[in-house]
Amino acid sequence: MVVNIDRLFSKRATRLRASEIRELLKITQIPGMISFAGGLPNPLAFPVDIINECIEKIYQKDINSPLQYGTTEGLTQLRGVLAERMKKNNHINCELHDILITSGAQQAISLVALCFLDPGDTYLTTAPAYLGAIQAFHAFEANCETIPMNDEGIDTDSLRRNLKRLNRTGVNPKFIYTVPTFQNPSGETMSLNHRKELLEIASEYDFLIIEDDPYSELIFEGEHIPPIKSFDTKGRVIYISTFSKILAPGFRLGWAIASKDILDKLILTKQATDLCTNGFSQYIAYEYINGGYLDKHVEKIKKLYKKKRDIMLKALKEYLPSNVKWTVPKGGMFIWLTLPKSIDTRLMFQKSIIKKVAYVIGEAFYPEGGNYNSMRLNFSYSEDDQIREGIKRLSEVIQEELATTYQQDTFPAEGV
Ligand SMILES: Cc1ncc(COP(=O)(O)O)c(C=O)c1O
Repeated sequence: MVVNIDRLFSKRATRLRASEIRELLKITQIPGMISFAGGLPNPLAFPVDIINECIEKIYQKDINSPLQYGTTEGLTQLRGVLAERMKKNNHINCELHDILITSGAQQAISLVALCFLDPGDTYLTTAPAYLGAIQAFHAFEANCETIPMNDEGIDTDSLRRNLKRLNRTGVNPKFIYTVPTFQNPSGETMSLNHRKELLEIASEYDFLIIEDDPYSELIFEGEHIPPIKSFDTKGRVIYISTFSKILAPGFRLGWAIASKDILDKLILTKQATDLCTNGFSQYIAYEYINGGYLDKHVEKIKKLYKKKRDIMLKALKEYLPSNVKWTVPKGGMFIWLTLPKSIDTRLMFQKSIIKKVAYVIGEAFYPEGGNYNSMRLNFSYSEDDQIREGIKRLSEVIQEELATTYQQDTFPAEGV
């Protein structure tokens, strides 16, 4: 008998769809393609020699423990050095038992979804939002309410209006998901005042804040703004970060900091998911921090990415028409472009692929769709001359698109 697999899949699995975007990203592997689409660190940012040294140290000390199963919470000494670092650099008041090591920040996001979202629940996210979080939350049949961003990182007036509206219908959101510093995808940073106000609002309406912070170490200029978690005295914020952008994403190492009640639940959920995080990579990360390599290496990554950001900004200014706007991120890996309303970046995508330059369409980052005239560009991955050439190609595609959409607007074809 043929298996009727569709009948057997869970509702949750049925809701999962192949991401159009991830499919589109495959196109970017065509030879000659200049891709600003993926959110990839540059391989030059991988501390290859340091990793080698760390592995040698591990072999000298004790190779058996890294190859053995570990605790679900994560390697004690790694949690210890992370807690020290979080206190010193981020002013987060935490000890090692407040930290859970996860298989990447992505797992921490998924564990949060598993712990807090029932079908029909409501959660909030800024829009645009990180695609991986949108996907993780989507499977849980929860309702998403989006809050627009502004030049202070989040429109708190709109947040209050939305919360009042939801309250009137008896809806209490469980949490808000936000990337306050050098956001993926927009590159924008939430101001200090808005971080504090967001925490006040969360307290007033009694929901959690999921603060996802993979990029704050990659700061090129301006003042370091402390994370929302550093103001949290009541256990209202779950802080998430990762080694993916400061060591290597292949290690699949992230961490979450939360109050005891929340952390205990996340640990139980993780235990049922993968028992423990990769032990070998945790030992390497520990040697990396404990040996004093991390701070020096982050300085190198910052220099590398700042140069690439500057090249991209200069090329945008040189080649793009004046009616295209973009963000000027002070760190991270992304620039966000807003084009004239007549341009639909979804329709323009195929044309840009023909010209061998790729981006991610803006709509992908909006859970409710829309914003068709925007796109995300990554500046960390491509080589310097590819950045210049890629922006030149993109500008040609945009100019051609503007010319045709202008003609259509002005002289509509007969019968259209
Ligand atoms: C905002 C954000 N959160 C989480 C992740 C996932 O990180 P990780 O590689 O640690 O799973 C990414 C990856 O790009 C990201 O941009």
